[in-house]
Amino acid sequence: MLLTRFSDFQPNFQTINQIRCFFEPRNIAVVGASTQYGKIGNIIVSNLFNFGFEGGIFPINPKATEILGLPCYPSIKQVDDEIDLSIICVPPKSVPTLIRESGEKGVKAAIIITAGFGELGEEGQKLQQEIISIGKQTNMRILGPNCLGLMRTANKLNASFAGNFPNKGPIGFVSQSGAMLTAILDYSFEEGIGFSNIASTGNKVDVDDADLINYFVNDENTKSVGLYIESIPKGRKFMDSILQSITKIPIVAIKSGRSLAGAEAASSHTGALAGSDKAFDAAFEQIGIQRSYYIEEFFAKLRALAYQPPARGNRIAIITNAGGPGVMAADSLQDEGLTLAHLSKQTIETLDKVLPATWSRRNPIDVIGDAKTDRYYAALSACIKDPNVDGIIVILTAQAMTEPYETALAVVDLMYSTDKPITAAWIGGASTGKIADGEDYLDDHGVPEVQFPHTAVQAMAACYERGRILRRFGEKF
Ligand code: COA
Repeated sequence: MLLTRFSDFQPNFQTINQIRCFFEPRNIAVVGASTQYGKIGNIIVSNLFNFGFEGGIFPINPKATEILGLPCYPSIKQVDDEIDLSIICVPPKSVPTLIRESGEKGVKAAIIITAGFGELGEEGQKLQQEIISIGKQTNMRILGPNCLGLMRTANKLNASFAGNFPNKGPIGFVSQSGAMLTAILDYSFEEGIGFSNIASTGNKVDVDDADLINYFVNDENTKSVGLYIESIPKGRKFMDSILQSITKIPIVAIKSGRSLAGAEAASSHTGALAGSDKAFDAAFEQIGIQRSYYIEEFFAKLRALAYQPPARGNRIAIITNAGGPGVMAADSLQDEGLTLAHLSKQTIETLDKVLPATWSRRNPIDVIGDAKTDRYYAALSACIKDPNVDGIIVILTAQAMTEPYETALAVVDLMYSTDKPITAAWIGGASTGKIADGEDYLDDHGVPEVQFPHTAVQAMAACYERGRILRRFGEKF
């Protein structure tokens, strides 16, 4: 089912190795680690320790001897072990001196959590220039400043001051906004979304989306990449890097600051120069990034792209046990550039034999409100075999006799027999209380499952768009 990757890809090994120091460090120093509960320097040490990072953790603070039971060092230079990653969380004026100490110690990667740089006018700009120069002089890559940090689920690394840690999953996510990142984390728990790597890029003075994608495309845990972007400071680098990667990994982006008011807000948030929105649209289209406008759609697309194959065409079958959601899905197909498939004569004849006489006899395939798993199984099998169908959306509303979990098992079982994409909406269910198991089963087995038909159509549209992009870049699938 998964896309073939790495066929003829020439990765940029230098960048990958540099970014590996951020996501797979052996030892981490926290410069500005604090003994005081609730301070950022305390939370970061606690997150590293409590979420299960197994490498070395070295708190640095000249006033303390021990933080959360770990020995504390007055300066990073007094740590004998090699440090791969420094996390800097001291006030802005102290950052240049302390980041230089990290560079001089031979640290290859630094996350600057501190805010108060390029986003804060002339004084901040000067400090920002200073840290950029120090990074270059000492050959140290810098993430931030003004960022939340990063996370990687494979090694239980929470190098951030977020209050929680994501579930494991296939999505690599880069957010220029730290607050968006934490809000999305909360949303991900409700929706069963999992991540491989997450990074907050803040002011993007050095490490940017392009560098991170270079790493993600070579990370076996990452199957799709989501970007929340306010600005792209190095446009050419971004374009080149995506062009090299896009056939190997699907990318979906939310680019905010589309309106004048939004662009002004972005400028004071991360110092972003937003640029013309039309130019972003054109650039994304050229390099094969799928654009998204809302969070729910964004993650539905990312989940579909992580596990479902590209669609060969835009002819979609809808299987539903309720008329209304089927009609809504049919309307949405048109909005998303898809079309209702004309079922083959063979499919109609097959379904005539197994469905009640009152079935819709056309697409959307209404298997009728009292449908149990067998009717869904028959309809989905027939659509998989139908040469007129390129992708299938399965909608289930929970009535008293509905079997949400068993139907989810059937969908997953059949998914393994086809190279057509399948998306699903398991709707409602609070009254019967039995829908959640089915939803979890679909989520855990790679069928993007959402709450409403329109989002299931958007997930399917991402699979169609992915096919179009791959064909445009000369890839066979
Ligand atoms: N080496 C190491 N630690 C040092 C130090 C040095 N040379 N000099 C001072 N410190 C210690 C301080 O003593 C303090 O520890 P303590 O609490 O045990 O006394 C710690 O570093 C932090 O310094 P402090 O002056 O207390 O700063 P702070 O914690 O109030 O603020 C930041 C520091 C980074 C949190 C703050 O400047 C900031 O930027 N906050 C916003 C962060 C943010 O929102 N980022 C964007 C997210 S999206």
